[in-house]
Amino acid sequence: MDTGVKGPRNAEALADPGLREGGWAVLVEDGIIREADRPDALRARHDAAPFVDLGDSLVVPGFVDPHTHPVFTGTREDEFELRNGGKTYEEIAKAGGGIRNSARRLRSSSEDELTNDLLARLDGFLELGTTTIEAKSGYGLSTESELASLRAIRRANAEHPLDLVPTFLGAHEIPDEYREDREGYIRLLTNEMLPLVAKENLAEACDVFCEDHVFSVDESRRILLRARELGLELKLHADEIKPIGGAELAAEVGALSADHLVAISEEGIRRMREAKVVPVLLPATSLYLNLGKDAPGKRMLNEGLACALATDFNPGSSPTRSLPLVMTLGCIKYGMTAAQALGAATWNAACAIGREGQVGALAPGCLADLVVLDLPNLRSLPYRFGENFVRTVVKRGEIVVTNGRRTGHAA
Ligand code: NIG
Ligand code: FE
Repeated sequence: MDTGVKGPRNAEALADPGLREGGWAVLVEDGIIREADRPDALRARHDAAPFVDLGDSLVVPGFVDPHTHPVFTGTREDEFELRNGGKTYEEIAKAGGGIRNSARRLRSSSEDELTNDLLARLDGFLELGTTTIEAKSGYGLSTESELASLRAIRRANAEHPLDLVPTFLGAHEIPDEYREDREGYIRLLTNEMLPLVAKENLAEACDVFCEDHVFSVDESRRILLRARELGLELKLHADEIKPIGGAELAAEVGALSADHLVAISEEGIRRMREAKVVPVLLPATSLYLNLGKDAPGKRMLNEGLACALATDFNPGSSPTRSLPLVMTLGCIKYGMTAAQALGAATWNAACAIGREGQVGALAPGCLADLVVLDLPNLRSLPYRFGENFVRTVVKRGEIVVTNGRRTGHAA
């Protein structure tokens, strides 16, 4: 499962999944893959090492979800119904719903409650084969609640086998108390929240929701440049609804990734390719919001961009943790093959969160994160849909899911 290509992989490089037919084994030490070879060759070199037989099965790297919003309080079924009745996501947001609705609720939770709620959501990722997620704050929108959200991510990461890579998304929305003072909120982000996040080392990256009804390109640039000054990597929610130049901004500031991109311009595609920004495509979100259109993933792939796939797990626009579902959508909507969809949700996803060569491949040096699938071949992975076919999950060398259920937990 390592084709030797460095950096995020374009469609051509993803086409070869590096499958090893007829048996493959990995030597695991301290949770890391040290060697990978034919089973007999590996056993000859390490005859004393305990051997775990995963059977005659399809084994793939643990999935990597490079875009999630897992810290929230309460769910938003009411807005789902409003949208199905004809209201748009933007209309609901402008009327005080959406992210601000979640922010009002999250602010009533303590750090302990946020941590417990978050922990309760993480087994579901493992059971669907995901072993690493990027996890954003962004439903606090105040210094206290944003820091509490990031501390909850840190604590959950320490307590749960799933790996969480933290991103600060204080610039997710303008909170209620700053609606008449946008500038005041941007100053709070750049002068108070970001320095505290950096000081406590609470996030690896900073993200901004750059969109017509949220942060403009100029406002996003100010926030991102401040974050970079403080040593953070950059990410962007870009051009989800309108083509306002979010992708171009991501290229300009050298972001790790630009995500959504439903309304990306031709110029945006060109600039992202040149700047090697990873497009993170979120097809479950455009489906769930019934946007009636999708990111031009096929065109991006044809033009040589190295796309990743993510769930965008959040209580408003994508309440799913299933990367297999997202892979199916990637095949249908962007014309990906099974191998390309898998690569987009493993290797390229790792690149989109600064974890290249550490997760997302069954290769020496990577974490021993493996998923055993109850499927006859790789093409069945996106072909099957709406069911869970994950049998066993190994995280850092430990079995954490057995027969599709978190090990040691009642069914
Ligand atoms: O990625 N686009 C911005 N943020 C989320 C939606 C969050 C929400 O509606 O709560 C997203 O889709
Ligand atoms: Fe998002």
